[in-house]
Amino acid sequence: MSHDTTAINRRMNRFDGHPSVWLFGYGSLIFKADFPYLERRPASISGWTRRFWQGSHDHRGTQAAPGRVVTLVPDALAVCHGMAYLVTPEEFAHLDYREKNGYLRLATPMTFEDGSRRDGIVYIAAHDNAAYLGPASERDIARQIAGARGPSGPNSEYLLALAAALRALGKPDAHVFEIERHLADFLAAA
Ligand code: SIN
Repeated sequence: MSHDTTAINRRMNRFDGHPSVWLFGYGSLIFKADFPYLERRPASISGWTRRFWQGSHDHRGTQAAPGRVVTLVPDALAVCHGMAYLVTPEEFAHLDYREKNGYLRLATPMTFEDGSRRDGIVYIAAHDNAAYLGPASERDIARQIAGARGPSGPNSEYLLALAAALRALGKPDAHVFEIERHLADFLAAA
C-alpha cells in the first residue's frame, strides 16, 4: 500500500448527502483543529486503544528518520477518549490531505459525555499501511520521539501537546503519560 491514502479516502461515500458529519479525533486532531467546525464536544469510541505505533515521515519526522504518532488499535474492552467535531463535508478534502500518511476513514459510532451517540468518521492507520511501525516499549518510543523532527515541528511537541490536551480533558492515558515521562529523561540528558 502506498503511504498516500488520499485517493482511497476520497472514495468513502458513507456520509454522502449529509449536511454535516461528526469527526472523532484522538491525536493531533484533539489539540490542533486547523479547520472550521460547527460544534466541538468531548467524546469516546469503544473497542479501540491509542498507541504511538504509526510512523510519521511527513509531519513529525522524515523518510530517513521517521517520528511516531498515534493510531488506534483494536482492543475489545478499551474506550478511547478524544474530541469530536461537527464539520461540513467540504472539510474532508483538507482532512484527507492532513491524514494522508496511512490513515483511512472509518465509520464509527461515538458517545458524548451526556450518553448520547452519533455515527461519524475516525481516521485510523491500520497495521498493513506502509508507514506503520508497530509496538515498541514506551522507553524506545520516547527515544525515537526525542530524536525526530519534520516539517510540522519536533515530534516531542506532538507528544507533549497530546498529553496536555488529555490532561485538560480529564482523560489520562497511561501509554501516553509513560512515554512523556521517558521523554523528559531523554530531553534532560540531551
Ligand atoms: C487523530 O488525531 O484523530 C488522528 C491522528 C493524528 O492526526 O494525530
